Amino acid sequence: MIFKGKRILLGVSGGIACYKAVELARRLVTSGAQVKVVMTRGAQEFVTPLTFAAVTGQTVGTSLFGQGIHPLEHIWLGQQVDALILAPATANLIGKVAAGIGDDLLTTILLAATRPVLLCPAMNCEMYANPVVQENLTRLEQRGMTVLRPAAGPLACGAVGYGRLPEVEDILAVASRLVSPQDLAGRRILVTAGPTHEDLDPVRFLTNRSSGKMGYAVARAAWRRGAEVTLVSGPTALPAPYGVEVVRVRSALEMREALQGHFPTADALIMAAAVSDYRPESPAPKKVKRRTPSQELRLVQNPDIIQELAAHRTRQVLIGFAAETGDLLAEARRKLEAKNLDLIVANEVNRPDSGFAVDTNEVTLIPRGGEPVALPLLSKDEVAQRLLDWLAEYWSGAREESRG
Ligand code: C5P
Repeated sequence: MIFKGKRILLGVSGGIACYKAVELARRLVTSGAQVKVVMTRGAQEFVTPLTFAAVTGQTVGTSLFGQGIHPLEHIWLGQQVDALILAPATANLIGKVAAGIGDDLLTTILLAATRPVLLCPAMNCEMYANPVVQENLTRLEQRGMTVLRPAAGPLACGAVGYGRLPEVEDILAVASRLVSPQDLAGRRILVTAGPTHEDLDPVRFLTNRSSGKMGYAVARAAWRRGAEVTLVSGPTALPAPYGVEVVRVRSALEMREALQGHFPTADALIMAAAVSDYRPESPAPKKVKRRTPSQELRLVQNPDIIQELAAHRTRQVLIGFAAETGDLLAEARRKLEAKNLDLIVANEVNRPDSGFAVDTNEVTLIPRGGEPVALPLLSKDEVAQRLLDWLAEYWSGAREESRG
């Protein structure tokens, strides 16, 4: 529930991407937001206010004047929310906002708005490329609005180019950053996720059941809280989180190389990847044939990446995960010490609703020299938040100590 308790004003102007704004409104609501929709006249030609009212459970603003409309609504609406999202924002709406025109409810709200604004342009590619539209967008960015530039692809008019409304997922990610505390701003956080593939031959490999969901949730949440995030990901089916630099690797050795490159400039490493402990000693250069009744497979140990990096740490905070099927806390503590970590996340993988490949997780946070904190079964997004709460507190505690 990344928008839990947040109030969002969704301004919808008249373009074909209005139909996607319905999905955006729905996703905001299911992510916990209270959503007030305000539509321009043009938008109402594409989608009726009733659609948004049904999706949000709130009346939709369509006019400055009329019965039942409070005379000060156009002032309050942009001041009493946590953020305003304009999606889709047409060239006309962008032009009016840039010029300071307030000739309907939405543009008047924007003149009086004091809260962060996210503007998501969507239009024909020639219209988007028009210098006047570009100048207006630059002007609005300079005045502090966040512009989520349109994606490239086939457009409703038949043209192909820049002008598509960005994916709803990306709009949600950027909006969630606007309404989140930026307590990790200025920090560089390196996150790993997913399994590794250790090749046996060109078509077969050894792997494990990690889906990457936990590490991706950590990367998303860290970016949302203001960090600069690099995600070193083993093979997964997950989309790249918005705003995050993703480095894709396959094997443990490739992951080690990628991390060695990024570690020196990082402030923290959160190692959620399930790195294979072993790899085939000599992978076959050609596909192994089915000839002999049995096969011997010789494995050699992979380097323990986090332990190696711990030996070269300067300022980096190191957080590991321990997925165990027995003696969870004792094993996790042993790894915390052996690998010289600051925190280990002891991960219950015996239950069907915790650990590999599911959306929920039950973990205990064990800090070095501190008391373990057992968390209940939570979504992986929520576990990521709690983990980053610990990190933000660790850093603010370290600041206090250096002052004291
Ligand atoms: O596999 P194990 O339970 O020891 O993993 C504990 C932590 O160590 C995890 O954070 C994992 O990503 C990391 N690890 C590693 N290199 C390995 C194996 C595990 O960095 N070869």
